[in-house]
Amino acid sequence: MEKLVVILLLVSAVGTHAASFPFIHNYLMRIDCGLNGKTTENYNNQTWFPDSFFIDPGKTKQITASPNVPQIMTTLRYFPHGEDMNCYGLQLISAQKYIFRAGFYYGNYDGKSQPPVFDLFLGGQLWETVNSSASTEGPVFHELVYAPKNDNISVCLMGRKESGGTPFISSLEATYLSLDSNNNRTVYGMMANGGTAYHLVARLNFGSYDEVVEPWSGWNQFCEEQLNRYWTPQPMPGYINLTFDSTFCSGANYENRPPNSVINTAISPTNASQSIYVPFNFPTTTPQSAYIVLYFYQNHIVDGPPENLNGTRNMDVYIDGVMRRNVKLEGLRSGDVVTLYPVLVQGTMNVTISPANGTVLAPLLNGMEVYYATEVAEETSGGFKILFSFIVVVVCQVLVSLLLGVV
Ligand SMILES: *[C@@H]1O[C@H](CO)[C@@H](O)[C@H](O)[C@H]1NC(C)=O
Ligand SMILES: *[C@@H]1O[C@H](CO)[C@@H](O)[C@H](O)[C@H]1NC(C)=O
Ligand SMILES: *[C@@H]1O[C@H](CO)[C@@H](O)[C@H](O)[C@H]1NC(C)=O
Ligand SMILES: *[C@@H]1O[C@H](CO)[C@@H](O)[C@H](O)[C@H]1NC(C)=O
Ligand SMILES: *[C@@H]1O[C@H](CO)[C@@H](O)[C@H](O)[C@H]1NC(C)=O
Ligand SMILES: *[C@@H]1O[C@H](CO)[C@@H](O)[C@H](O)[C@H]1NC(C)=O
Ligand SMILES: *[C@@H]1O[C@H](CO)[C@@H](O)[C@H](O)[C@H]1NC(C)=O
Ligand SMILES: *[C@@H]1O[C@H](CO)[C@@H](O)[C@H](O)[C@H]1NC(C)=O
Ligand SMILES: *[C@@H]1O[C@H](CO)[C@@H](O)[C@H](O)[C@H]1NC(C)=O
Repeated sequence: MEKLVVILLLVSAVGTHAASFPFIHNYLMRIDCGLNGKTTENYNNQTWFPDSFFIDPGKTKQITASPNVPQIMTTLRYFPHGEDMNCYGLQLISAQKYIFRAGFYYGNYDGKSQPPVFDLFLGGQLWETVNSSASTEGPVFHELVYAPKNDNISVCLMGRKESGGTPFISSLEATYLSLDSNNNRTVYGMMANGGTAYHLVARLNFGSYDEVVEPWSGWNQFCEEQLNRYWTPQPMPGYINLTFDSTFCSGANYENRPPNSVINTAISPTNASQSIYVPFNFPTTTPQSAYIVLYFYQNHIVDGPPENLNGTRNMDVYIDGVMRRNVKLEGLRSGDVVTLYPVLVQGTMNVTISPANGTVLAPLLNGMEVYYATEVAEETSGGFKILFSFIVVVVCQVLVSLLLGVV
């Protein structure tokens, strides 16, 4: 009942925009922090809400637009009372997975040329320590997948004693990860429906030169990005770049629904007896449990050296030298998605795709996602609990395995 009242209030507040008000369904929430007024904003055919619906504390500021900075990032909300928890309340469907993304663009809004460092919390748990200094070049984004326990999840900002600085935020998004009706599979099916947060480290598109795949980009929305994800191109010098015929809407058939423009480009070694080698760095050297997704797909080549797809493409997937999975592609419009979890990593990781027994064609790799998992203690609606760190768990696991190894 309480929720209904909130929804009705919001609907009346946005008036004529109510027809395109996704918040009613709690499926897709795009919040432009610091945007003045009570009406929605249209940006690239996306509806964004001003953050005044979701938060009371803080002040708003507008910064000068520049070509490198999306319109959404040119307003922000900052919190002069950084010693307090400054919280957004998001009404979502409880116990369902969402992608949460927060964006920060400093843009010297306070004229101090001192980009602050501060803490970001989700459901009372530390999400990330935000270092906005990198945002002198462009926005900083932090993203994770999590199923909130409560239907009113808080996203809070608080300053840090040691580094000082006023917390601020430019954008906040929550995207519901539904069951994929196309193939009846849960998106990111090995991610737990609660209790664990999966922090995005990278979401890469191989074999494309400079195309950033953005939410809702492309001529055919159904074949393109449906889950509000960004895929960044990963240049891989020394490999062949392949582009496949994309007339078929193939991505939607695969696990996690990769967009067409991601699966229709790939890298491949110049020689079928060579491997693809992707070295990877994590933001910290502490032991972590990684969630890795690898996307494989082939079709008629429209750009790149021609291949006879009659032959088998047989590949072995190795992580840090350990064979994890075999992938076999045969014929046109053939693909596979490999999810590996948990993979224990410590600072770095080497992904190797090697030619397997009897392969005719060289290995290939179209896309990759990497997350690390943290355990989340029971969240509280407004309050704050000490983070029950995953590191503790991993250290215990390592100790136990050492002991077992010794015994
Ligand atoms: C917005 O949608 C219209 C109509 O579908 C389309 O013509 C236009 O290119 C879209 N704009 C962007 C920025 O995607
Ligand atoms: C949701 O949570 C926010 C922040 O904790 C709080 O301010 C707000 O009152 C809550 N809303 C509801 C409807 O419970
Ligand atoms: C923030 O980033 C800058 C530049 O990358 C770095 O010099 C600084 O030490 C970082 N601050 C913290 C607290 O991590
Ligand atoms: C999807 O799964 C549900 C539950 O397992 C089942 O009832 C339904 O028939 C499935 N739908 C399709 C299209 O396979
Ligand atoms: C493929 O593209 C990368 C940039 O992403 C480039 O460095 C490389 O030389 C290209 N490979 C070929 C064979 O052109
Ligand atoms: C492919 O690599 C193998 C081993 O490195 C080498 O023996 C072979 O000559 C190479 N083939 C071509 C076509 O370069
Ligand atoms: C591929 O296989 C089919 C059927 O086995 C055959 O008719 C065709 O000639 C082959 N194509 C090439 C390029 O070898
Ligand atoms: C990854 O490969 C590099 C170079 O071969 C090596 O130095 C590093 O130890 C490897 N990392 C892991 C975690 O195996
Ligand atoms: C590959 O084939 C060789 C010889 O047939 C065999 O000894 C080896 O075990 C095979 N390797 C794998 C990974 O199947």
